[in-house]
Amino acid sequence: MTFFVTGASSGLGLHTAQALVRRGHIVVAGARSFKGTAVPFPDGMYRLPLDVTDQESITAFVEQALQITGSVDAVIHCAGILVLGSCEETTPEEYRQIMDTDFFGMVRVNQAVLPHMRAQGKGKIIMFSSINGLLGIPFQSAYTAAKHAVEGYAECLQMETSSFGIQVCLVEPGDHKSGAEKYRRHTEGMRPASPYEENFRRGTNVIHHDEQNGSDPDRLGEKVARAAEKKIMPFRLRVASPDQHLAVILHDILPSRINNWILRSYYLKRKQK
Ligand SMILES: NC(=O)c1ccc[n+]([C@@H]2O[C@H](COP(=O)([O-])OP(=O)(O)OC[C@H]3O[C@@H](n4cnc5c(N)ncnc54)[C@H](OP(=O)(O)O)[C@@H]3O)[C@@H](O)[C@H]2O)c1
Repeated sequence: MTFFVTGASSGLGLHTAQALVRRGHIVVAGARSFKGTAVPFPDGMYRLPLDVTDQESITAFVEQALQITGSVDAVIHCAGILVLGSCEETTPEEYRQIMDTDFFGMVRVNQAVLPHMRAQGKGKIIMFSSINGLLGIPFQSAYTAAKHAVEGYAECLQMETSSFGIQVCLVEPGDHKSGAEKYRRHTEGMRPASPYEENFRRGTNVIHHDEQNGSDPDRLGEKVARAAEKKIMPFRLRVASPDQHLAVILHDILPSRINNWILRSYYLKRKQK
């Protein structure tokens, strides 16, 4: 199969792209840090520059990628950034940047590939959401809002495109040991002696600790690749630890007040490691 994978220079995007290459697929990977070349790298992967916030870059990427592959069986959206900060102090510009990359990036790339998929009469669109697409945690509001947007958008996309033979899948990872630190910025809006400082330190310590001790990214890459190869993809592919699965179930069944208390206690009152 032919795959275009966004955000494949590090983290889960890279691990997913590598799993696909290992399984014999043709992969064109995109990221801002890649330089343009239509020649495969020694690992078998094509790498082209791609900025999902820039329409011209997306058009050039899709054109070049199609020249390499001739068709696109599947697009996997992994490009993503994160800003940690309180709702009060995260700047509107930071909210905009997160939405622009994590949500509108997917919208733009989908709009570029959908005409090709419709013409082919088939195609698969796999979007990396997160457990944060299903529930909120303190100090990740911009990311949580963007991933919730992805979840709602994906349901609409699936309903609108299935008659053209197009399938949609939401990948919902829990914490994985993969993300590069440079994509986990702290808000520039945090003031000295911020009233949120103590809770922010506690919450972000838990977030960093859970990611550093998270699941194996190679296993996730293999799971995504296997799902993409299926004749009928699952609409949701949740790849998370048992306690994160449980958190999602409790979020669905418990009264919000109790659920918020549990998550708040976990992130803000847990004994620090
Ligand atoms: N890691 C986890 O535990 C975890 C958990 C849940 C969900 N996720 C989701 O999984 C995906 C990958 O996250 P990660 O943490 O594994 O990766 P990461 O190491 O944070 O990498 C982010 C990737 O996105 C690319 N990127 C950022 N801005 C971009 C832009 N404007 N255009 C194109 N590419 C861009 C980066 O490459 P360049 O800088 O070269 O462009 C990089 O390849 C994200 O959607 C994330 O939300 C991750």
